Amino acid sequence: MLRLLLLTSTAFLFTACQQASAQKKDMERSTERGAALYAEFCESCHGVNMEGGMAPSMADESWAYGGTVADIRRIVTQGLEEVGMPAFGDVIRGQNLDDLVTYIHSDLSSEKIPAVENVSSVEERVKIEDWATDLDEPWGMHFIADDTALVTEKSGKLWQVSSVGRIEIKGIPESVDERQGGLLDVATDPDYANNGWVYLSYTHADKKDRKALMTKISRGRIKNGQWTNEQTLFQAKPEDYIKTGFHFGSRITFDDEGHLYFGIGDRGKKDEAQDLTRPNGKIHRIMRDGSIPEDNPFVEIENAYPSIYSYGNRNPQGTIVHPQTGVVWETEHGPRGGDELNAIKSGVNYGWPKISYGINYNGTELTPHTALPGMEQPVSQWTPSIAVCGLDVYTGDLFPEWKGRLLAGALANQTVRLIDVEGETYKGEAILIKDKGRVRDVTIGPDGAIYVALPSRIVRLTPNE
Ligand code: HEC
Repeated sequence: MLRLLLLTSTAFLFTACQQASAQKKDMERSTERGAALYAEFCESCHGVNMEGGMAPSMADESWAYGGTVADIRRIVTQGLEEVGMPAFGDVIRGQNLDDLVTYIHSDLSSEKIPAVENVSSVEERVKIEDWATDLDEPWGMHFIADDTALVTEKSGKLWQVSSVGRIEIKGIPESVDERQGGLLDVATDPDYANNGWVYLSYTHADKKDRKALMTKISRGRIKNGQWTNEQTLFQAKPEDYIKTGFHFGSRITFDDEGHLYFGIGDRGKKDEAQDLTRPNGKIHRIMRDGSIPEDNPFVEIENAYPSIYSYGNRNPQGTIVHPQTGVVWETEHGPRGGDELNAIKSGVNYGWPKISYGINYNGTELTPHTALPGMEQPVSQWTPSIAVCGLDVYTGDLFPEWKGRLLAGALANQTVRLIDVEGETYKGEAILIKDKGRVRDVTIGPDGAIYVALPSRIVRLTPNE
């Protein structure tokens, strides 16, 4: 009897173990399938490891909309359309939905899923050190002297930063820190030494309806830590402000003929990128005082924004005039896939949303066309998306062989890419740094070092000798 009991209990134990290990296997398989779904549908916005990119982190255990299984199921199915989280109910359901939620909740979620890379790394060439720390989402930066830069924080502060400390510039225009919006880029006038003008791009709220937002451009001078002489250079008509929190653009750059270029994203209204009477989904060109250049391409078209220089641009977050060739380089976010490198030309239609190498975030077809007559092709494109942000041209002396190459940052992909261009053609690219955090901006210091804005700090890259 005793023996029998023993036997049965061992047998029981044995099956329980088997069951547990079978359960574990199921869980692992489910997590694996969930990881694949995540990589396919979520990674482009939430980051390769859920660390966040254009969308919030899901790895930091803070959930704005509730982090229970039920919450995540509901959010994935229905989306949060107002804030830019698409609905996936049509494509992810049943077992797939279970697997995805298992994955998001699993410990494995913080493990690496390798991003698709086809570019070589030159990482060993550079030494990386912290230059400024304890920053809150630095968005734009621009050097005004050796070891001194103006730096914006998305939350609305402008700082004069050096390696030994920083001072806050008071009295800058009010910006709205909402989703992707906030205080965005900062740039100085090409003749800054003589005129002191500093330019800002930021998310501006309509006076009557604080939820209606649009990108605005202003300039001012800094005297004793105070913003003065403020002038508005570009402001959209109040009726064109839009109640979404994403796709604001925007980088400010200058050519040597007195023009200032900046971009505004489509603001989530993709068809308006093709509409010349709307400011969104465009690259704009104005004079540095905000006046309209006489030879802008659409000045003769009734009701068109006269500042429009090119259109069909989804969300430009890198714009730089190449100092040697004068080419206006631009990087813009694609939807899922199809991030673009463009050479921006007057009056040209870059095709969004009629042509794109990307597809809808939920995997459905966005457009059957990657090319159409009358629409410009990108010079190069990244599929899967890397979430491009920040662009500069290397001009320093520390890396003489890189002179004239583009430096492009990427948020979700967490890289800085060194892109070789000749005139308006793409010759190839290499990864300069990776996995240091999502890259918001890249700039060159007067010392020839490359400075990279990460989520809470700015790092300095110099040759690794
Ligand atoms: C187009 C970009 C985009 C894609 C693709 C995307 N999301 Fe989101 N997601 C967002 C945005 C934007 C938010 C909300 C931002 C905010 O308001 O804080 C969000 C929010 C969420 C939240 C709530 C987070 C919180 O803090 O409470 C969850 C959960 C979520 N997404 C899951 C997913 C999953 C799972 C996928 C893949 C099936 C996915 N998302 C794909 C953009 C995206």
